[in-house]
Amino acid sequence: MKRVIIIGATSGIGWALASLYAADGWTVGITGRRTERLEELRTKSGGIVHATFMDVSDTGSARKTFLELVSEIGGIDLVIISSGTGYLDDSLPWQKELETIKTNVEGFAAIAHAAFEIFRQQGCGHLAGISSIASVRGGPVPAYNASKAFVSSYLQGFRSIAARDNLPVYVTDILPGFVDTAMAKGDGLFWVASPERAAIYIFRAIEKKKRRVWVTRRWRFVALLLQFMPEKLYHSLICGKRENA
Ligand SMILES: NC(=O)c1ccc[n+]([C@@H]2O[C@H](COP(=O)([O-])OP(=O)(O)OC[C@H]3O[C@@H](n4cnc5c(N)ncnc54)[C@H](OP(=O)(O)O)[C@@H]3O)[C@@H](O)[C@H]2O)c1
Repeated sequence: MKRVIIIGATSGIGWALASLYAADGWTVGITGRRTERLEELRTKSGGIVHATFMDVSDTGSARKTFLELVSEIGGIDLVIISSGTGYLDDSLPWQKELETIKTNVEGFAAIAHAAFEIFRQQGCGHLAGISSIASVRGGPVPAYNASKAFVSSYLQGFRSIAARDNLPVYVTDILPGFVDTAMAKGDGLFWVASPERAAIYIFRAIEKKKRRVWVTRRWRFVALLLQFMPEKLYHSLICGKRENA
């Protein structure tokens, strides 16, 4: 039986992915901070899901817990890192910026690195991480967009190592547009996918060992537009006003 660990599975995309993998017969390990939600998913699965508390921003403890969970489920074939945080506040509180960096950068790297180490040692495995369309260019919540650029670049780095060392270790970078979860903040959202639909996209992309997946596919073109749009136009679109200079 194949084994997957999903980091950040207490809600949203991670929750939908955990439900999908459990229904597909995988042995599933899930983590998050809201233990009541972990317990709810464990009970719903009839006890086949293994759940454990993890705060990824406490990187030392998160890596230890991750290794313990790998042992508990008897090894690992696939790790999906879905944990992430973001906020909307034009006053840019430093604590929020820092929390975003600690969770999305430090926390992401701590688990991605631990997973890749295992895959490298065992000579196989699949690492997938949830970045965002926000990764393609900076935005008005600077830490969020920058943290997602880190996620995509960090994953690309592991893919390069696997290619250099001829390792059958696969790495998938997942770039959602809007998905209907607590993370989808603000007005004027469009093309919003349900977490269940997003999970199916991700599940299939991982099965096909894709390097990059846009959720849903049409966001790929939006990303291209955003990436190459002239700066003034980009600012007016993203920040809702024109640049002065
Ligand atoms: N929804 C969108 O429109 C969208 C678009 C692009 C990218 N994304 C990305 O998709 C991923 C999943 O988000 P979602 O949309 O499913 O939102 P969500 O429902 O808020 O899920 C976020 C998950 O991250 C976990 N998490 C947050 N901080 C954590 C921490 N310090 N330690 C451990 N786990 C932590 C949460 O669990 P606990 O709170 O229980 O710890 C929760 O399970 C995120 O990386 C997000 O950036 C979402």
